[in-house]
Formats: sequence, C-alpha cells, structure tokens
Amino acid sequence: MTGANQGLGYALVNALCRALGPDGIVYLTARDPDRGQAAAAALGRAGRSPVFHPLDVTVQASVDTLAEMLRARHGGVDVVISNAAARVDPVVPQAAQVRRFVETNNHGTTRIMRALGPLLRDGARYLVVASSFGTLGHLALPLQNRFDISTASLADIDEAMNDYVAAVEDGRAASLGWPDWINVPSKIGQVAATKVFARDIWARAECAGILIDAVCPGLVDTEASRPWFRDMAAAQTPAAAARDIVWLATLSDDVRVPYAELVQHRRALVWQYADGASSRRFSATR
Ligand SMILES: NC(=O)c1ccc[n+]([C@@H]2O[C@H](COP(=O)([O-])OP(=O)(O)OC[C@H]3O[C@@H](n4cnc5c(N)ncnc54)[C@H](OP(=O)(O)O)[C@@H]3O)[C@@H](O)[C@H]2O)c1
Repeated sequence: MTGANQGLGYALVNALCRALGPDGIVYLTARDPDRGQAAAAALGRAGRSPVFHPLDVTVQASVDTLAEMLRARHGGVDVVISNAAARVDPVVPQAAQVRRFVETNNHGTTRIMRALGPLLRDGARYLVVASSFGTLGHLALPLQNRFDISTASLADIDEAMNDYVAAVEDGRAASLGWPDWINVPSKIGQVAATKVFARDIWARAECAGILIDAVCPGLVDTEASRPWFRDMAAAQTPAAAARDIVWLATLSDDVRVPYAELVQHRRALVWQYADGASSRRFSATR
C-alpha cells in the first residue's frame, strides 16, 4: 500500500489486514519514516500488524528498493494498492503546484507499475486509487487523443502529462482546453496509465488470473478533500470508503469482474471517446 500513513491509505491497510487475517503480510509504506512508523504502531494498538517500509513514489531509488525487498523477501507480490497522492492547496496558484502534483500522482503511479508489474504473482490484484474525475468525458476530443489507450505506451501517457504540466506553468492550459482543476487531467492520466498497463500485460494476466483496475472511492473525508468541499455531509469515512476497494483487492479469482476499468462502488465507469471510436477501446473480463 502506498501513501498509507493517513487518510484513505491508512484505512485501506487496516481493512486489508483484517481481510487477510494473521497470515497476510501487509506493507504500510509512507514517504516519511516517522509518520509511517507512527501509523503502523497505531494500527498495532488496534490489533493489526502491518509492516512499515519507507517509500517515496517520486524517488526512483526508493521504488527500486521496495521492489527489490519484495522480490528478495517474498519472491513477488499478491496485492498492490497504489494510493499515494500529493494534495492541491486551494490558496496556492496551480502553476506552482502542478509539477510536484503530476510527479507524485502520475509519474509516481507509472514508476510503481514498472517496478512492481514484473513481480505480480498468479492471482495478483493491482489497484490504482484514482477518481471519477478520471473519466474521458471531462476532456475535449483533441486532448482525448493524447490518452488513446489502444495505442499509447506508458511513456506516451507520461509525456502527455509532462506537456500538460508545461501548459499549466506557461499559462496555456485553458486555451488548449484543459480543465481548470489540476486534479482532473491528473486523474485522467492515472486511469489511462492503468488501462495501458493492464493492456500491456493482458496475455499474462488472462493466464495467471491477475486483475488490474483503477478505483474511485467516492468522496472521502480526509485532510486532502476537506479544503475543497464546503459541505462534507455526504462524504464517507475513510473506513467506509475502504470497503469496496478491499473487496476488489481480495476478490476470489473465480469471480468474473471487469479488467482494465475504473471501478466505483463495484461498478465500472464509462471511458468513452467523444467520436465514439470503439477501435480505441480495450476491454476484457477476467
Ligand atoms: N479524499 C477523497 O475524497 C478522494 C476522492 C477520490 C479519490 N481520492 C484519491 O484517494 C487517494 C488518497 O487520498 P486521501 O484523501 O487519503 O489523501 P491524503 O490524506 O492526502 O493521503 C495521501 C497519502 O499519500 C502520501 N504521499 C504524498 N506524497 C507522497 C510521495 N511522494 N510518496 C509516497 N507517499 C506520498 C501522503 O503522505 P504524507 O502524509 O507524508 O503527506 C499520504 O499518506 C488519492 O489518490 C486521492 O486522489 C480521494
């Protein structure tokens, strides 16, 4: 679990420990060792026993160290929940935040895919915590073409996000048709990357019973969401939001579920190009 010292990630570790029971080894990772160890200790007092491991998703060496530890100690990994995310501060200009935001939420996501993808064991589940903002309908067609999941590589998605960062920093993003809030293009890039990653390993996933999806938890009451919504009455607690994600992460591999989708509350959300081109789709069920 990445980004697990607070918020949804912390609740996901708690729920995953409970779901897997005493035989499951759950790694609570965090970029700050003190915050990570404190979170693991708090869960320990609640009867869970996650293992802390430091991980900063923006640092390649940190990601490589995690992958090497998993390979050496366990020979692979059964469940990955890629959850780490930088926040957007509403009072700081977005141009001053977009680079770090994309570096964490997008390049951090693809960095983890490249490092942990080869370690997925038979029956593994790989979930990327994204958002319903990550559906293609939030983009105009010319920009949708940058996220063609039938042909793009992960490097193409990274490059589209780098171009987006440059456009925000140069003040060109609005005239190019990008949505105002940097969380929206970022989540679209994250979901597109998940679909491309899933497409790339589909042959192995089909044989080995591997599931890859993006997930949207819905609105969750965390320090990250609170500054953006005046009324949080409809927000779920992190514990409640963790339920559907851990359900998917621990689903038995004889249950058929959508693969390479964005799943919210156990249902796949639509990823539809504005020109309706079905050739640019990748869909499978496993
Ligand atoms: N909250 C919502 O309503 C909502 C809705 C839809 C989707 N989501 C998604 O759910 C996920 C979790 O959100 P949240 O609300 O729980 O956010 P949060 O409370 O801000 O938690 C984010 C976690 O990511 C960690 N993190 C930040 N930068 C990192 C880095 N470079 N390397 C490793 N970890 C890093 C943070 O660590 P620090 O404590 O060190 O900063 C924190 O543990 C995000 O992907 C978010 O987009 C949330």
